Amino acid sequence: MLSQKTIDIVKSTAPVLEVKGKDITTHFYRAMFADHPELLNIFNHANQEKGRQQTALANTVYAAAKYIDQLEVLVPAVKQIAHKHRSLAVKPEHYPIVGEYLLKAIKEVLGDAATDDIINAWAEAYGVIAQVFIDTEAQMYKEASEQAGGWMDFKEFEVADKVKESSLITSFYLKPKDGAQLPAFHPGQYITIKLNIPGEENIVNRQYSLSAAPNKEYYRISVKREADHQPEGTVSNYLHDHIGKGDTVEVSTPAGDFYLANDRKEPVVLISGGVGITPMMSMLETLAAENSKREIVFIHAARNEEAHAFKEHTEQLVRELDNARSYMAYGEKKDKQTICDVEGHIDAEFLKEVVPNNSICYVCGPVPFMGAVIGHLSKNGLSEDQIKFEFFGPAVQLQQA
Ligand SMILES: Cc1cc2nc3c(=O)[nH]c(=O)nc-3n(C[C@H](O)[C@H](O)[C@H](O)COP(=O)(O)OP(=O)(O)OC[C@H]3O[C@@H](n4cnc5c(N)ncnc54)[C@H](O)[C@@H]3O)c2cc1C
Ligand code: HEM
Repeated sequence: MLSQKTIDIVKSTAPVLEVKGKDITTHFYRAMFADHPELLNIFNHANQEKGRQQTALANTVYAAAKYIDQLEVLVPAVKQIAHKHRSLAVKPEHYPIVGEYLLKAIKEVLGDAATDDIINAWAEAYGVIAQVFIDTEAQMYKEASEQAGGWMDFKEFEVADKVKESSLITSFYLKPKDGAQLPAFHPGQYITIKLNIPGEENIVNRQYSLSAAPNKEYYRISVKREADHQPEGTVSNYLHDHIGKGDTVEVSTPAGDFYLANDRKEPVVLISGGVGITPMMSMLETLAAENSKREIVFIHAARNEEAHAFKEHTEQLVRELDNARSYMAYGEKKDKQTICDVEGHIDAEFLKEVVPNNSICYVCGPVPFMGAVIGHLSKNGLSEDQIKFEFFGPAVQLQQA
């Protein structure tokens, strides 16, 4: 239990953290990696370079300061982060290291304003927050390793098949090398892939949503080649160019809190942009396998026809289902013969027409796409509870349309 004095100090510094949060976390990571380069084997360097991870951590530290006396408010956010931590094998012994460098960074950025009282209060508060994470993650490690077919941390998988799904996206079918059955997972969850890439200084980890319905034999991931910006994406290009049938990758058990709730009856709407289609494929395949009678709306936006992954497969699944329909938006049409429902961006009017008011919507895609779609859905009267979404990177504030 924190003392009232500690609570008051931490809450009173929350506004400063809101302003200085990203400075603090930027200092924090720089110093921590300088002294603990082994942690570079866990963190995603691209997210560091782009500042996304610093922002995500700063937002969480700020929220923790604000709600230090009502930590229960933070439970959903803690769970989402803890899933990510668990999939990366973050362990209790890492927490004191993060705590030490976070406090040093607060001191450095706040300068004279960081009195001993403030630093001591933060040290105490960090201990409480860290314990919430450690306890949540302990439960997740237990569930992951003790479930039927489960394991701790990472296990070797072999690429059983590699299938091109579009000009940009390729699927990898992964089977455990020990031949064991796979544990159950929720459609929408992701795994972490761990690779040792020749020429890379550190081990790399990336999350990939499972794109097939849960089954006992294989995991399917579907990876977009990141080649639009320089430098080209490390892992996606390596997977596309150098990983094929018979190769080995290390895989975590499935994680994540973005998944199809299967005990519901209301209409379900799956809205994806680009490679954000992957969790939706797992959900749609699951609904088809269950012969679901729910009203199902599948909406997908792709750059163009060539970049449209799983086109025939989606159409087939929608045909098999009793009460499903699908819509396609292309950013650009190759020629007049190209058939799609929307040319350009999905807008609020279109969503008003095709999304039932009482539906549960699952949204995944690039950040601006999610901001726009979620903004339109909210304007059309859907509540926060009706809209679930997944970031393919550290969480950021969405600019809603
Ligand atoms: C929960 C979750 C699920 C996901 N599911 C999928 C999925 O199903 N399919 C999928 O394809 N992806 C998915 N992702 C994204 C995936 O994890 C990777 O982020 C993606 O494959 C890119 O990794 P990469 O190593 O190829 O690119 P990275 O090397 O990580 O680079 C990513 C981007 O950052 C830029 N960048 C890199 N270094 C720098 C630098 N120094 N300065 C500036 N910019 C830089 C690159 O140009 C590139 O555009 C998911 C992510 C999460 C968190
Ligand atoms: C109380 C302490 C901590 C807090 C508040 C915290 C917070 C966060 C947040 C907000 C994210 C982004 C999650 C997302 O949006 O997906 C994250 C990711 C991550 N955290 Fe932590 N974390 C803490 C401790 C740790 C520790 C001890 C480690 C291990 C050294 C760690 C390693 C990571 C890694 C590797 C990621 C993924 C980074 C990426 O994908 O770029 N965290 N954490």
